[in-house]
Amino acid sequence: MTVTLGQYLAQSGADPSLVDLLLALTGGCERISAAVRRGAAGDIMGALESENVQGEVQKKLDVISNEILLEACAPAARLVAIGSEEMEGIHPVRKLGPDGGFFLLFDPLDGSSNIEVNVSIGTIFSILPAPTSASEREPIEADFLQPGRNQVAAGYVVYGPQTTLVLTLRAGVRVFTLDPVTAQWLEVNEAAAIPPETKEFAINASNMRHWAAPVRQYVEDCLAGETGPRGKNFNMRWVASMVADVHRIMMRGGVFLYPWDAREPNRAGKLRLMYEANPMALLVEQAGGASFDGFGPTLDAKPVSLHQRVSVMLGSKAEVDRLQRLHADALQPA
Ligand code: AHG
Ligand code: MN
Ligand code: MN
Repeated sequence: MTVTLGQYLAQSGADPSLVDLLLALTGGCERISAAVRRGAAGDIMGALESENVQGEVQKKLDVISNEILLEACAPAARLVAIGSEEMEGIHPVRKLGPDGGFFLLFDPLDGSSNIEVNVSIGTIFSILPAPTSASEREPIEADFLQPGRNQVAAGYVVYGPQTTLVLTLRAGVRVFTLDPVTAQWLEVNEAAAIPPETKEFAINASNMRHWAAPVRQYVEDCLAGETGPRGKNFNMRWVASMVADVHRIMMRGGVFLYPWDAREPNRAGKLRLMYEANPMALLVEQAGGASFDGFGPTLDAKPVSLHQRVSVMLGSKAEVDRLQRLHADALQPA
């Protein structure tokens, strides 16, 4: 029997106010999906004059998606505040108090460079517990700075040939397709499970000359194929939308890397810890995979700021273990 998202959430045992928030959020994603599908027929294409806090030019759809999600989620009963790639500071919704509640973080539109070329894009989200406070007070950014391990739920929506929601409530990973006929999220796929072994890796190889030695070694070993140290041939894929690259890994395994590189040595990586790496790391772990930030499991990193960047390596367990070993070996004195 096909299960709808609403039925799954109702039977999941999750806190009803978390269910309320997830339904509001996925309702927002339905609206983004509709905007994406209108494409050039709606007024969603192109760049704006503005830049976000990371100094990146904002696309119209980045801003539209952010506004849709803010509006959709604000009524959720125990949502305390929102952090977003497209907003410098946190967006308070209500005061913190003795009841705690939830913080929501999102990358409203991931893969912005693919909007105009009609390639898969997505939304990534992370939900953290809001601390309780004996007396009522405004939430502050420091309240958000919790390791990814604390996430109570995480997920993404891919706006591709199909609109697909991939969600974890920390009890495995469930996959729902937005059926355009019934306008329902239907669980028609198997639950996601990442095989430990793979022959597929995803990295922007144009940055190869800037990589650190362990990453370069890892990729060189893959490229060497059957006659190299791995003894098998690998395939390479790179969509340039993290959501789409991770979705492929969720469905058939693989490893995704956006590592630190020497282009900007003082920047930990390109991707953002709190609303890109952490939600994906939880999903990947819950599907049997692993993640690594160059030092340890991504989910154990203690954030120091809302928009901090991180080196990302995640996917099939055996590959992430290999990357960890290569990094550890590089630290050994020769
Ligand atoms: P965003 O569109 O939210 O800024 O994220 C883009 C990210 C990520 O989705 C993707 O994996 C990566 O940027 C692509 O980077 P390159 O352009 O270096 O390939
Ligand atoms: Mn992104
Ligand atoms: Mn984005």
